[in-house]
Amino acid sequence: MTGKRRVGILISGRGSNMQSLVAAADDPDYPAEVCLVLSNRADAAGLAFAEARNLPTAVVDHRDFSDRAAFDAEVAGRLRQHGAELVACAGFMRILGERLTAEWSGRVLNIHPSLLPCYRGLDTHERALADGVRVHGCTVHFVSPELDAGPIICQAAVPVMADDTPSSLAARVLKAEHAIYPQALAWVASGQVRLENGKVRAPSSGDPDQTLFSPAIRAR
Ligand code: GAR
Repeated sequence: MTGKRRVGILISGRGSNMQSLVAAADDPDYPAEVCLVLSNRADAAGLAFAEARNLPTAVVDHRDFSDRAAFDAEVAGRLRQHGAELVACAGFMRILGERLTAEWSGRVLNIHPSLLPCYRGLDTHERALADGVRVHGCTVHFVSPELDAGPIICQAAVPVMADDTPSSLAARVLKAEHAIYPQALAWVASGQVRLENGKVRAPSSGDPDQTLFSPAIRAR
């Protein structure tokens, strides 16, 4: 493959995952470049970061559209206008409809703060703590019409500590998000990972000897 794939990043707020992608794309060897940072909220803090980095930005406020299809069409139009070939949802809190996800199938990624298929939707850390799970984490997946249900590209697991609060757990998961999202996007941009007949084709798996014990198990 020659050249870098152009990626549009969709955000709704803080934009720390967007920042991790922008930082990764600073590497001359990274296979993607950021062509647009688009927010559905004008007050998204992440926009200021993107503007300071001289990245093209856009605001498409969902409240200005009568329905999801019209909002999606505007978002897709802006992405096309900036030559986006891939889309990375990074804390983008709107559901993308069937038409857009079908048209961009295999080219839209999302990061979700749970080990999918557990805890789709909102308040993932609160729900994980309420259930008493000992392992939690995050997932990068291809976006499909069903919310948080698209084919999984990459996951990271973290331990849940006895004294965790939703925010301490969120911070631990977020650190893992910042590690896996740039890697997952690089795999897709370089063609090493792709969607084929609804399944993710990847060249390698994890390390079979690596187990996360939570709580930790002392060596005997
Ligand atoms: C991240 O934890 C991301 O996984 C989550 O929102 C946060 C955004 O933070 N996304 C979702 O919940 C999507 N359903 P950021 O704006 O700092 O990247």
